[in-house]
Amino acid sequence: MYDADHARPAQSGRRAILHDMEPTADDFLGAALKGLSSTPKALPHRFLYDAEGSALFDRITRLPEYYPTRTEIGILRDNAADIAARVGPNVQLVELGSGSSVKVRILLDALDNPYAYVPIDISRDHLAGAAQAIQDAYPDLRVEAIAADFAQPFDLPPRGAGKRVGFYPGSSIGNFTPAEAESFLKLWAGRLGAGAMMLIGVDLQKDASILEAAYDDAQKVTAAFSLNLLARANRELGADFDLKAFRHEARYRADEGRVEISLVALKDTEVTLDGRRFTFEEGERLHVEDSWKYTLPGFRALADRAGWEAETVWIDPDGLFSVHMMRVRP
Ligand code: AVJ
Repeated sequence: MYDADHARPAQSGRRAILHDMEPTADDFLGAALKGLSSTPKALPHRFLYDAEGSALFDRITRLPEYYPTRTEIGILRDNAADIAARVGPNVQLVELGSGSSVKVRILLDALDNPYAYVPIDISRDHLAGAAQAIQDAYPDLRVEAIAADFAQPFDLPPRGAGKRVGFYPGSSIGNFTPAEAESFLKLWAGRLGAGAMMLIGVDLQKDASILEAAYDDAQKVTAAFSLNLLARANRELGADFDLKAFRHEARYRADEGRVEISLVALKDTEVTLDGRRFTFEEGERLHVEDSWKYTLPGFRALADRAGWEAETVWIDPDGLFSVHMMRVRP
């Protein structure tokens, strides 16, 4: 695997290495049929991010109500020197996802002589471009991208003299159920290995009013993001969802610690997909995604069960968001 392809011919300078293990196209039709046949009905959130959905998510991150992105960036900026001191020199920085070049640049700028940057993303094309942009900005850095599903089995490139440090920003862990998050962190404790550390962004439990506004903004960008799942099914699968027959809804379930995002039928409506008809009654919900929120002790306990011990945690002055640094328990 390590006599790898190169991401794209650059005009000059160094080319990022790309290890291509991109999974074969996910089965949107099969997943949609299964979700529409379930009770309650659902469509899997992993299909939210086609080109249209990714552009909408990008706009979400800049909305006034959507505090996570800018708050996490502030935490990283304010604590970059402390982060760098705690991980030490020559780290191999392994990013889970590659959508956050602003965030990783804050780390790369602060780290003491990083050995390598290893972004991992399911989308090869997106990854290749993002990896090369980092390579161009940091010509002396070894950039070794891996196109793969985080959960599929693969080995990381060998690290240098420093620590291996995982970086999983954005509270992306919030799309997993707590049980899934625990298995995921367990898998990554093993994969990053003894002595490794991880820096992970985790959104915090808070007032329902703040959370519900963050997931149902005034400009209706988040509504468009959810509805794009139906639009995508119409575009790619030949479904005939009536987009006007649904409204986006974000409900915070404080008892569960999650924001539930659904599309609610405004009237009786139906959709035909692959020759099968599915009916919605007025008020019926189509579940789109959950965004789980944690308390500091709640997340620490989960990470502990997955083999991680807390090194430290940073939060913003308003207590909205947390960035945990943890290490693989020896
Ligand atoms: C990408 C899972 C971190 O839960 O905040 C944002 C997704 N959905 N607005 C989140 C999302 C609607 C986002 N994550």
